[in-house]
Amino acid sequence: MSVDVKPHGGIGESIKRKEDARFLRGRGNYLDDITLPNTLHMAILRSPHAHARIRSIDTSAASASPGVIAVVTGELMAQHGLAWMPTLSGDTQAVLATDKVRFQGQEVAAVVAESKYAAEDAVGLIDVDYEVLPVIVSPQAARAEGAPLIRDDKEGQQDNHIYHWEAGDAAATETAFARAAHVVKLSTHYPRSHPAPLETCGILADVDPASGKATLYMTSQAPHAIRTVFALVAGLPEHQIRVISPDIGGGFGNKVPVYPGYVVATAASLLLGRPVKWVEDRNENLISTGFARDFHMTGELALDGDGRMLALRVHLDSDNGAFFADAQPTKFKAGLFHIVTGSYDIPAAHVSADGYYTNKAPGGVAYRCSFRVTEASYLIERLVTNAALELGIDQAELRLRNFIPPEAFPYHSATGWEYDSGNYAGAMDVALRELGYEDLRREQAEKRQRGELMGIGLASFTEVVGAGPGRDFDILGLRMFDSAELRVHPTGKAILKLGVKSQGQGHHTTFAQIVAEELGIPAADVEVMEGDTDNTPYGLGTYASRSTPTAGAATAMISRKLRDKARKLAAHLLEAAEEDLEWERGRFYVRGTPERSKTIQDVAFAAYTNLPEGMEAGLEGSHYYDPPNMTYPFGTYAVVVDVDSGTGVVKVRRVVAVDDCGVRINPMIVEGQIHGGLTEGFGIAFTELITFDEDGNCIGSNFMDYLLPTAWETPNFECHATVTPSPHHPLGAKGVGESATVGSPAAFVNAVIDALAPHKIENIDMPVTSDKVWAALRSRGVTE
Ligand code: CDP
Repeated sequence: MSVDVKPHGGIGESIKRKEDARFLRGRGNYLDDITLPNTLHMAILRSPHAHARIRSIDTSAASASPGVIAVVTGELMAQHGLAWMPTLSGDTQAVLATDKVRFQGQEVAAVVAESKYAAEDAVGLIDVDYEVLPVIVSPQAARAEGAPLIRDDKEGQQDNHIYHWEAGDAAATETAFARAAHVVKLSTHYPRSHPAPLETCGILADVDPASGKATLYMTSQAPHAIRTVFALVAGLPEHQIRVISPDIGGGFGNKVPVYPGYVVATAASLLLGRPVKWVEDRNENLISTGFARDFHMTGELALDGDGRMLALRVHLDSDNGAFFADAQPTKFKAGLFHIVTGSYDIPAAHVSADGYYTNKAPGGVAYRCSFRVTEASYLIERLVTNAALELGIDQAELRLRNFIPPEAFPYHSATGWEYDSGNYAGAMDVALRELGYEDLRREQAEKRQRGELMGIGLASFTEVVGAGPGRDFDILGLRMFDSAELRVHPTGKAILKLGVKSQGQGHHTTFAQIVAEELGIPAADVEVMEGDTDNTPYGLGTYASRSTPTAGAATAMISRKLRDKARKLAAHLLEAAEEDLEWERGRFYVRGTPERSKTIQDVAFAAYTNLPEGMEAGLEGSHYYDPPNMTYPFGTYAVVVDVDSGTGVVKVRRVVAVDDCGVRINPMIVEGQIHGGLTEGFGIAFTELITFDEDGNCIGSNFMDYLLPTAWETPNFECHATVTPSPHHPLGAKGVGESATVGSPAAFVNAVIDALAPHKIENIDMPVTSDKVWAALRSRGVTE
């Protein structure tokens, strides 16, 4: 028997975001809001050239400029052993250039001054004598005979090749291809794009000259890992470093790496004994910090006469920029790209990857993506649509014929993954029904008769999120577990401390909901704290949709541990045997006499006031959770477009999104994540591009050239969900943060390709702009 329990804001409730009360009133506390007495300001001189030898740097005029305290060069950093730093992929990266500059926008020198204006003015007075060198802006040019060597700083480096990496079974794939009835091939470039968070990156470094303690306020998605990296790089004792990530205005992967500006500001604070602040401007953010993508991919899909997939062969060339700084698990050189078989039961697959240095900014961050899954999802979903068009099979039908069936889970993919759960046809069914697929196909056929171009694009993505397990996933050797510490105070209010760090995802709400569900303390009574290494348990941070699968699980586990102790306390208070107690959210009662009960608040008070003999006081503890497997969210995105054959303009008419992230903790927040991801997917598909001219000049380094979609051009999104729990997550939840950015670009492009299908246009690389569509139609004689 149960009695009414007041709403707690438990799992599945779309309660409003607790953090918004602060944000909407302008009470957020972002990095640039933090002011310390005596703060100095730093500005960075960046290279105008993509590749040039530094002959000399004259800092005399800058040093004499009013308000300037110090001018820092690579030479000075080298005297302290800090001219170079390790990257997250174990390469080295120049902090301030000493020998050469290797990309436009590279850090050459820094000015520390009494004001930001004085620092910026003095930067303009530094005189650098460059000897310009030949430039490489593509992997193809990087491997060409006689290509200039970019990384001549690295001993033994003879060319611009960084790595070769393979996954899957080459021989089995070869055999399967030999007996294929059809082979469909697609070569495509997933262009360089940028996370472009609203708030740029920055640091306020405060090294106390008396205690030696370094307090680093940073826009970091991974404060604990950064502290360890700082300890190792700078040789500072780790307990003397405190990293505080305050409110963060969007990260999307951009705020995972350690940037040279962080190192220089910290060194400057250490040397000058005053706090030093550096906040990037927009141009610096776009030109020099963590880009994403830039994969040149070729995929071949082998099918039998019935349209069943037999094998997949993929090769990719990765354009890594001047330093190999991809933020990804050590073991996987091309991230988790080898999930490229996607939602399909493909018996054989082989992936090979080569990485190259080029004269571009380093990066390769997990931009709303689990380490390169976005590129993989794009490739397979574009290939499947092309296969359907080539074979004359309906796009939905070809997918349904090849989906991994629900009974095949846990499913072992040909490239080595164990998928936890899925019902791909279920999500596709909802999408087709909500879209009115059959009616739209009829409308399309009628329009084609009249020469009008209308397209329906589908993409059925499968994601892999939630790194660890620690046995396979690490960053620079740090195993990718995560943590939660929960303290219940005497009055039954609680504080939950986490190793992850929200950048806008709503952790203060959803993690409180997990405690509410598991321990019955209303979500409103649970304060969530993140992002302070002195006051939160160690964790690897938030990126790649890992917070719910890791720290979310840790929160459930610690709540359950405390509930076990609470049961003992309740038994003591009720003078009953533990086994005779029933639990319902918020209270224990004696089986058969529900009026004999104690609430969790009663129990919390007793934990500090009335304990059974021999029990340790308090109701608190921590849990470190190393997940047994990744989680595999999935879904189907469907897009309808109309294309004007006269101008090439694409109009997105409908977007239907069906997502399955297992059990949803807060469906409203999940939907918000999907909306954001779809907007990013739309932008990548149609408007956003960072590219480089032949001299390595970055085009797309400001918002006039790098076109983020605004509310004006973003289409309406129709969101739906199915729920297939993860069998190994304690709550059945999977991550969701990045799904729509991963899954949707292919749906947008597939819709355009479907619209153009009568003219046999098989590919247009993103961003699909009207001039590219127009040119493709013109090449087929469709338009003048
Ligand atoms: O690591 P990150 O927070 O970016 O990604 P996530 O774990 O996918 O979570 C994004 C937001 O959605 C968080 O507030 C989660 O708690 C919430 N979420 C949810 O409510 N239910 C899920 N099944 C997954 C995420």
